[in-house]
Amino acid sequence: MIKKNLSDVGSDRLRGRTVIVRADLNVPVDSGSITDDQRIRASLPTLRTLTEAGARVILLSHLGRPNGRVAPAYSLAPVAERLNELLESPVRFVPHTDGRAASGSLEFLGEGEIALLENTRFEAGETANDPELASSWAELGDLFVNDAFGTAHRAHASTAGLASAIRASGGEAVAGLLMAKELEFLEEALRLPERPFVAIIGGAKISSKIGVVSALLPRVDRLLIGGAMANTFFRAMGLDTGESLIEEDSIEVAAQLLEEGGDRLVLPLDCIVTSEISETARRRVVERTDVQGEDKILDIGPRTRDLFADLVSRAKTIVWNGPMGVFEIDAFAEGTVLIAEAVAAACDGGALGILGGGDSAAAAERADVVDRLTHVSTGGGASLELLAGADLPGVHALTDRSA
Ligand code: 3PG
Repeated sequence: MIKKNLSDVGSDRLRGRTVIVRADLNVPVDSGSITDDQRIRASLPTLRTLTEAGARVILLSHLGRPNGRVAPAYSLAPVAERLNELLESPVRFVPHTDGRAASGSLEFLGEGEIALLENTRFEAGETANDPELASSWAELGDLFVNDAFGTAHRAHASTAGLASAIRASGGEAVAGLLMAKELEFLEEALRLPERPFVAIIGGAKISSKIGVVSALLPRVDRLLIGGAMANTFFRAMGLDTGESLIEEDSIEVAAQLLEEGGDRLVLPLDCIVTSEISETARRRVVERTDVQGEDKILDIGPRTRDLFADLVSRAKTIVWNGPMGVFEIDAFAEGTVLIAEAVAAACDGGALGILGGGDSAAAAERADVVDRLTHVSTGGGASLELLAGADLPGVHALTDRSA
């Protein structure tokens, strides 16, 4: 069901109205300094649309996992400062989370102003989806804009709970502009993909990606597997993986996926192995059948890179999630960087290339290709769940467009 979004709410209905916005401003903060502000920047279109239309904006977000306790290291104060720098309109920081506790500080919020409340996860009721906490925010206004795509897979009080509470009291809950864009790209890739449709799934853990691999397998023309998760498939094929990272518990499911996938599931042919994980490690290229002893597989080999790059170059729709190796170490980054370049080149030629968040986004930045990709998602877990076909609770609870 298509959900209402902020563009469906005319700007004439926003002046002077108090609008509660949930964004995902969960950015890395190191000793009070924000080290990557991508998610803050991604929330600006929604915030600007609201402030320019004269709304009074009450902004909510979580940061990190403080487990329901007030923890200064997880304060949103540095985020308020960064928002102030990025937006022309003033952003007031309110050091309270619960809507009732914050309401006194919100009384004089002017038209076009934003008040950012303290970290929603300072309240234990947030992750428990406590209806009382959700109501404390719902009481502050009658329009809720959920722009937190990165958190849409969580049924928390400030996401699904708040949407339900505001609708129960006669208000509306709509998607923000970032949320709408993410849904459009990720759902579109699945609905009617232009073919060939190639998915590239990497990263360390097969267990966290079984859902997405199973959901994509019947839809794609090729599903390329890289990263340490390929090792578990190798074991399911009866190959020796030396001392490489594998997940014993997932060998059986890997075997099932191999059977289901047939030719569509493409595993690396060769690998870069080493006995120590370091920048100066001695590396060898070996066939996947020749891994043994102390070998640790840390990247895809040259034959695999050529094969993957060739399949990607012919694709019209590409979904990529997860690195091909330990790309944080230069010596094992080549496979991931080459795939990033191949996806970017395919996009230059007109393919639709969508990148899941988290590690893959960091890899694309490292390869300096972000601007050439069709869409880089701000959601790691959320984009994976959406691609796996899940109904995201943060989206499900929004008002239907037909309502
Ligand atoms: C993320 O970074 O993936 C989102 O902000 C969700 O955070 P969480 O995994 O702590 O719920």
